[in-house]
Amino acid sequence: MRKLFLLFLVVSFGLLSISSRKGNSDPVNQLVIIANNPGPLISKDIYGHFSEHLGTCIYGGIWVGTDSRIPNTHGIRNDVLYALREIKVPNLRWPGGCFADTYHWKDGIGPPEKRASIVNTHWGGITEDNSFGTHEFMELTRLIDCDAYINGNVGSGTVREMAEWVEYLTSGSDSPMTRLRKENGREEPWKVRYFAIGNENWGCGGNMTAEFYTDLMRQYSTYLNNYGENRLYRVACGPSDYNYAWTETLMKDPGSRARFQGLSIHYYSLVDGWNNKGSATEFGEREWFRTMNSNLRMDEIIKGHKAIMDRYDPGKTKGLVVDEWGNWFDVEPGTNPGFLYQQNTIRDAVTAAVHLNIFNQHADRVHVANLAQTVNVLQSVILTSDDRMVLTPTWHVFRMFRVHQDARLLTTDLKCEEYEYQGSRITALSASASVDNEGKIHVSMANLNPGKEITVTCPVIGAAIKTVTGEILTADRMNACNTFEKPETVKTVQFRGFKMKDGVITVTMPAKSVVMLEVETK
Ligand code: AHR
Repeated sequence: MRKLFLLFLVVSFGLLSISSRKGNSDPVNQLVIIANNPGPLISKDIYGHFSEHLGTCIYGGIWVGTDSRIPNTHGIRNDVLYALREIKVPNLRWPGGCFADTYHWKDGIGPPEKRASIVNTHWGGITEDNSFGTHEFMELTRLIDCDAYINGNVGSGTVREMAEWVEYLTSGSDSPMTRLRKENGREEPWKVRYFAIGNENWGCGGNMTAEFYTDLMRQYSTYLNNYGENRLYRVACGPSDYNYAWTETLMKDPGSRARFQGLSIHYYSLVDGWNNKGSATEFGEREWFRTMNSNLRMDEIIKGHKAIMDRYDPGKTKGLVVDEWGNWFDVEPGTNPGFLYQQNTIRDAVTAAVHLNIFNQHADRVHVANLAQTVNVLQSVILTSDDRMVLTPTWHVFRMFRVHQDARLLTTDLKCEEYEYQGSRITALSASASVDNEGKIHVSMANLNPGKEITVTCPVIGAAIKTVTGEILTADRMNACNTFEKPETVKTVQFRGFKMKDGVITVTMPAKSVVMLEVETK
């Protein structure tokens, strides 16, 4: 009924405004916002991040150790801490990624000098001293004030090892594991919200079939207890990309469905496939277009997996956990190919906006999402070099979009022109809107066209507008980025490119821009 009513509003407003523009040859770009009928909660956890033992994400990027000359709190660098707090990171996933299915947590507890080392076989083959382990990670989440998302080891671990990790972390009873935790300096159990049962077990996590993994997941999950008041949100390893068969296998069996709360999915955007990822900074419009095209596929991928989940779980009790997403380019020249270090430009900022708008729009099913990765790896929000730090354009988008966290999704209807490049076409705009618990409406939009300003009218239905303010992120070049020498080339500024009349906001979006509007209503 609610859907029908909204459809009626959207269609009637659309027809009205299109007919009023008859004779005008400009493309009709219109974003109708229905303000008085809020939809599902946009979980703050859609704005999560991912920090793997990979390259210099953990060692150097987050963890410098207590003896470092780089200012730190309990070994965690302060500049990174402040930057993560500012974007309100809601949850942080650790220790991998592929690394997770090689990680044995007991090697990372106890006196640092006594910890066993580990060779990071997936990422660069370097030897890590395990100085960053469970206690250090939990301290990081405390300092950022976010939920812990821990990824357990199915590929090379045991059921007992995983069960004991959960017990060590969250149990308040007297047991060998809790005594060990206390010996290591932590009296009280921690709270752990998210716990994943393996990572990419169809690939680096054990090369399993969906059937084999499903059986293992049922077994492992059986022993992941909820201790005291801690309630685990168990994440089963889901598919990547368009692997719908994997989702079907996990969802169809009630005995399997009963053992997890969320199903992960991984999707990375690539310019020309895995063998030709292209440079993060040296690119032309062809690569820009193909990146945007690849980004937009996230929507159809989510829709495909959602359709399967809807069949088996119409009540939407199981979440889709997009715990790895982002642009994957070639590493920066001269850096270790196993470290996945890439620069970040305004192209990545538009990518982030497109994804976050898609996740918002699917808030009924997408409970969690984690950008890959936090610092110095893939589409990171932060880059560091020794004691220097720079905030990437992607960081700025997360700062702008934090207002959507735990707000309610508003129904929107976007009709817009296409962005055409050499005969191929994609949508030129991306958008979503929400209303927070103070009644403020936030509208986030991105202009995917790097060469054309676009004007879009935004009728706000069901609310009387009092004031509108805005912020914008844009740049003069497609590959503009922030460097250690020039850290503020791409940054947000106040946005004045809009007009307001009779309940309609007319916004002029510069080429390659991300805009956030805040609308106060009467
Ligand atoms: O994020 C880098 C890697 O990509 C992760 O370790 C793995 O899960 C994925 O294949």
